[in-house]
Formats: sequence, structure tokens, C-alpha cells
Amino acid sequence: MKKHLILSQLALCVGVALIGISAQAADEKGSAQAGQSKVSLCIGCHAIPDYRADYPLVYKVPMIGGQNAAYIVSALSAYKKGERKHPTMRAIAGSLSDQDMADIGEYYAAQTPSSPKNPLK
Ligand code: HEC
Repeated sequence: MKKHLILSQLALCVGVALIGISAQAADEKGSAQAGQSKVSLCIGCHAIPDYRADYPLVYKVPMIGGQNAAYIVSALSAYKKGERKHPTMRAIAGSLSDQDMADIGEYYAAQTPSSPKNPLK
């Protein structure tokens, strides 16, 4: 049941991510604001701000809110290049452009445990 929910969320969000890629800017400086519209793909698993993992019984999902932006970008590139092997994250990172990764990195880096802009609250 939960797995099914995640899969349908994933399908929906891959579409959203593809739209994001076609609107990609040439400059790769990350923008937390732009990132906010790109993390819909990640919410189902990483459940953003406030460090909550929604599906702890299904996946061991690392908490990435508040992580360093450069770390997030380098982790995503490593999945995309295949240096990191997790199949789901490889598929997801493969759909992200360098600009998307930069924006997403800034977005997560800006989160704190008491983030007032928590979109899930
Ligand atoms: C289907 C569930 C799922 C989705 C959707 C998902 N992730 Fe992940 N993510 C995981 C899991 C599970 C891991 C741990 C993988 C591993 O062991 O390498 C992970 C790992 C990561 C890591 C590495 C964290 C670390 O501490 O090294 C980053 C960064 C990350 N994800 C970012 C994202 C971003 C950004 C998105 C959206 C574009 C996203 N993920 C979407 C499940 C997901």
C-alpha cells in the first residue's frame, strides 16, 4: 500500500522534474527558491524540513535537510555518474541537470529543524 503510494508519487514527480529541466538556466549558481519547486520529487522519501523520514519502515532514507549544499550536489552527481549505486537515487539523480542539483542543494541547505517555511506543516 505504502509502496504503491510512493510509486505513483514518483511517476508524477518525474514529470515535474522533466518540466524543470527544459526550463533550465545556463548559470549553475544554486537558488533555494528555484529549488523549492524541484523537490516535489524528493518529499515522498526525504520528507524534507524538520528531518522527518515518512517511510522509515520501507526505506532507510537519510535526512538531507540542513545538509551542506556542496555535499548534496556531490552526492547527487555521484548517483548520476554511478559512483554511488543505490538504484532509486541513481534513477532520480539521472533526471536532474546540474542546475537542478545546485538549486536543490541550496534549498535543503537552507532548512533547519524549526524551519518556519516547512511546506509540510
Ligand atoms: C523513492 C525514495 C527516494 C526519493 C524519491 C528520493 N530519494 Fe534520495 N535517497 C533515498 C534513499 C533510500 C537514499 C539512501 C541511498 C543510499 O544508501 O545510497 C537516498 C540518498 C540521498 C542522498 C545522499 C544522502 C547522504 O547522506 O549521503 C541525497 C543527497 C538525496 N538522496 C537527495 C535526494 C533528492 C534531492 C531527491 C529528489 C530530487 C531524492 N533524494 C529523492 C530515497 C529517495
